[in-house]
Parts: sequence; C-alpha cells; structure tokens
Amino acid sequence: MPPHSQPQRVDAPLSASAIFLVVSVKDIADDDTAATVRNVVSSVNDTAKNVAFRDPSANLICTVGIGARVWEVVTKKLPKPSELHAFREVKGATHTAISTPGDLLFHIRAERRDLCFELERQLLDQLGDSVTVEDETVGFRYFDNRDLLGFIDGTANPVGADTQEAVLVAGTDVAGSSVDIVGGSYVVVQKYLHKMDSWKALKTEAQEEIIGRTKFDNVELDDAPPDVQKSHKSLNTIVDEATGAEHDILRDNMPFGSPGSKEYGTYFIGYTRHLWVIEQMLHNMFVGSPPGKHDRLLDYSTAVTGSVFFMPSLALLDEIGDD
Ligand code: HEM
Repeated sequence: MPPHSQPQRVDAPLSASAIFLVVSVKDIADDDTAATVRNVVSSVNDTAKNVAFRDPSANLICTVGIGARVWEVVTKKLPKPSELHAFREVKGATHTAISTPGDLLFHIRAERRDLCFELERQLLDQLGDSVTVEDETVGFRYFDNRDLLGFIDGTANPVGADTQEAVLVAGTDVAGSSVDIVGGSYVVVQKYLHKMDSWKALKTEAQEEIIGRTKFDNVELDDAPPDVQKSHKSLNTIVDEATGAEHDILRDNMPFGSPGSKEYGTYFIGYTRHLWVIEQMLHNMFVGSPPGKHDRLLDYSTAVTGSVFFMPSLALLDEIGDD
C-alpha cells in the first residue's frame, strides 16, 4: 500500500467497548459550519491520541466516515467515490431495511468504556452546534464475542492480508473516481432491535438453522439444498460469478441494550471495498434469495437505522485539514 493511501485503523480488532456516533450537519451551506466540520474530521486522530495517551494499553481507536450529502463540501470538492450514495432502502415482502439520515460516522473503540466516552464528549464539544446527533449507540463485548441472540458473531471475518483485500479501495477500482479514494472503505451501519421473547421461544436447533452455525461451539452447518430456505450465513456468502472467489466484508458488530427498558440489539457495521457487496447481502436478507425467502433472522430483528459512509485514507483526512 503506497504511503499516500495509508488507511484509517479500519482493521482494529473487536474491543470491549465501542460507540457508534452518527450525526447530521445542520447547515452545510454555511461556511463556518463547513470549516468546523472539516477541522474536526481532519484532526480526529490527534483528538483520539490525546485521550488514548492516558492509557495506551486500552487501544483507543476512532475511525471517521463521510456521507454522500456532505462529501463535496467536507472534502473541498474532491470527486465522490464512485459507489458512494445515501443508504438505499431495501423493501422485501415482509421486512424493510430503512434508510435514515447521517452525514458523519465516528466509530470509537477501546478496551475501556471511559476512554470511548471521553473521546465522544470531546468530539461533540468540538462540533458544537454544527451537527445534530442522529444516533448514539454504546456497544459492549458479550461473552465469547456473542451477540445477544447467543451466537458468536464475527467468525467469518477476513484476517491478515485478506482484510485489506476485502476492505480497502484499490487503485484498480478507481476508474472515473479520484485516486484520493484509494485506501478508503465504504461503511454501512444498521441498528437492529431483537424480539428476544420470541427468539428465546425457538428451540436451539431452529435458531442454529436460521444462523447457519451451531450455537455452543460455533461450527458451520452445511448449506441447505437449493429449494430449502437459506441460513443467514448462506444468504451472506457472495460468490464472484467469474472467479468463484468469495467477496468478504469486515464486520465489527456489537451488542447493545438495556434490560431495564427491555431493549436488546445488535449494531451492524460492515466495512467493504465494494459497496455493492453489502447491498447484495441486504437484498438477499430482505428480499430473499430466491425472492420471497427472506432471512428469518429478520423475523426476530428489526432494522431501525440504515446509513452509508466512506472512510477516507489518512492522507485524504490530512488534505481536508489543509487551508
Ligand atoms: C455471519 C449475526 C446482520 C453479514 C453472521 C453470524 C452471526 C451473525 C451470528 C455467524 C458467525 C460469523 O461468521 O460471524 C448477525 C446479527 C445481525 C446480522 C445478529 C443483525 C441482527 C448482518 C447484516 C449483514 C451480515 C445486516 C450484511 C449486510 C454477515 C456475513 C456473515 C455473517 C457476511 C458471514 C457469512 C459467511 O460465513 O461467509 N452474522 N448478523 N450480517 N453475517 Fe450477520
């Protein structure tokens, strides 16, 4: 990877704590607002470093994504990444992946909740009145990296060099786009709320068929025959027709919730080199593959947000900050 396209730390490992902060810019046509946003976005790593220094062992990391609506103003008119657009609603016969507002995403991760909290506080202080908070979700690591449905989540993620291959825009992808987007990633976020009572009423074997893995020891189940309802795992396996290779994405899903208010959820966040791969996954889940056979995980999980961002390389973040 050439130095100018050094990525943000999109490959940071799952942490004990995370905050997913989605904000909208109030008035992007206002010069002061645009300058504030540029300043905060471009200096996010300096802000994070100041907080991280208090306990380097906690590995505080923050990545920042920019949405289609504000791309031009925030990047000072750099051409938009070719696939970047607002989240496109996916409407199936039974379930819908809704599209919700969001211009900036801050994905904050650390082994300590207090460091995540402090960084979010400082970022929002800096942004001041320029933004409206659309969603703030505080995620935590549950036993063995399980989601609140009880399954180990993240196993099929790419590792090592495969991660960069799956996640970072390469020079070969940018025909018609600016080379400045090399080393960046498309990011999709969706907040899901689970219907825990009805999920718990299912037998473990039924839950395992829905996910496509065993619950206790996380073993992959064989794909169902073509005429049988596919599992979540199978619906999300996207195979390249030409090469037969799988198109992986990187997921950093985190559980969140509050038993007191009976809120149980999974925050889905997927990083990808090609936005169409995640869009295809969403189509398979919500419309079904074949159409009509949607992902049964959705009978127990409702998407309440949906937004798309582009996470630029470190060099592009620097460029945004230059006067
Ligand atoms: C696999 C949970 C939403 C894409 C899995 C697995 C679990 C899981 C338990 C199996 C273990 C693993 O490989 O991680 C969930 C939950 C969700 C959710 C609880 C929200 C309610 C999504 C969405 C997408 C997605 C929205 C994509 C748009 C994938 C992919 C895999 C996977 C690509 C790996 C498939 C493979 O084995 O190749 N998910 N998921 N998931 N999920 Fe999800």
